[in-house]
Amino acid sequence: MRAIVVDHSMPDGFRIGTVPDPVPGPGQALVAVKAFSVNNGDVVDNIDAAPDGSVPGWEAAGVVVQEAADGSGPPVGAPVTTFGWNGAWAALRAVDTTHLAEIPADADLGAAATIPIAAGTALAALNRIGPLLGRRVLVTGATGGVGRFAVQLARLGGADVTAVTGNPGRNGDMLRDLGASEVVTTPGGTAAMGAVDGVVETVGGPTLVESFATLGRDGTLVAVGSASQKPATFAPDAFLSRPGQDNRSIATFFMPEAADIARGMGWLAQAAADGRIDPGIAWCSGWEDLGDAVSRLRERRLGGKAVATVDLPGVQED
Ligand SMILES: NC(=O)c1ccc[n+]([C@@H]2O[C@H](COP(=O)([O-])OP(=O)(O)OC[C@H]3O[C@@H](n4cnc5c(N)ncnc54)[C@H](OP(=O)(O)O)[C@@H]3O)[C@@H](O)[C@H]2O)c1
Repeated sequence: MRAIVVDHSMPDGFRIGTVPDPVPGPGQALVAVKAFSVNNGDVVDNIDAAPDGSVPGWEAAGVVVQEAADGSGPPVGAPVTTFGWNGAWAALRAVDTTHLAEIPADADLGAAATIPIAAGTALAALNRIGPLLGRRVLVTGATGGVGRFAVQLARLGGADVTAVTGNPGRNGDMLRDLGASEVVTTPGGTAAMGAVDGVVETVGGPTLVESFATLGRDGTLVAVGSASQKPATFAPDAFLSRPGQDNRSIATFFMPEAADIARGMGWLAQAAADGRIDPGIAWCSGWEDLGDAVSRLRERRLGGKAVATVDLPGVQED
């Protein structure tokens, strides 16, 4: 089958090549991939740190072409969105039926491809914070894949949302349109804020330190990621209790271990199909153009999700 193959001798670190078809295990469905999405972690873990010859990609949407031998999961012909450790950027992928969700028949497969990682992470991280109705949530890296969904879902859940971006001038209107009532930047922008009940933190480094300081009593910061790749240095008294800030928590987080991934993916795909959440696809093209999307993501020029389609004619192999 055709697939994106890691090849560090190439300028982008990958090429379109040919690899053996995946062989599904008993609890796996075989899915013909129609569209896949690109995440920060796909680039860092699945390209930069991956060996030559591997097939990257965590999330893809498509159609079941062979149902799981154990009878679990949807039947042949069902449109699905899928999550797995790699192998999404390919014409076919074998997926555990616990890691896929059937999506509405008329759902846009490109939009569905953005759901598992970015939206699934935002949903699970917000669930980790707890109830949202009438509470106050801070989302850092709010223009990113996870952040954009976190802003929308927190608002949908009834929270008052403050969004953190490195460039409020450029991104402020977009983040307010997604549901943020306030847009600030770090360093410094959170200093004048009142206390928040929860933080979805995706940037790390000084932003992690600063956003932890905004937590009020019983607040929870969910440490999702470190897009900045910067170290976080806390002051010696950063974790001491202080008036109005007792009993705060930092929760580590790993989306693949979140509870009931498939149910969350199905709900999110329906919400995207209904228009309740906007996947914010900023780049969509055939997979032969994937290098451009990866460069934009690396350089913080993407401004939303990137979706590549795999069924365009004229793709050059090898
Ligand atoms: N724990 C898990 O299971 C899990 C799951 C998904 C993702 N993650 C991690 O969460 C983080 C965010 O993922 P994502 O997919 O949302 O990433 P993304 O799309 O690249 O977004 C990250 C955002 O962080 C902001 N940012 C601030 N400083 C940055 C810097 N120095 N370099 C790059 N971005 C910077 C950018 O917003 P502005 O330009 O507006 O400031 C950017 O939009 C990553 O570290 C990822 O690996 C973890």
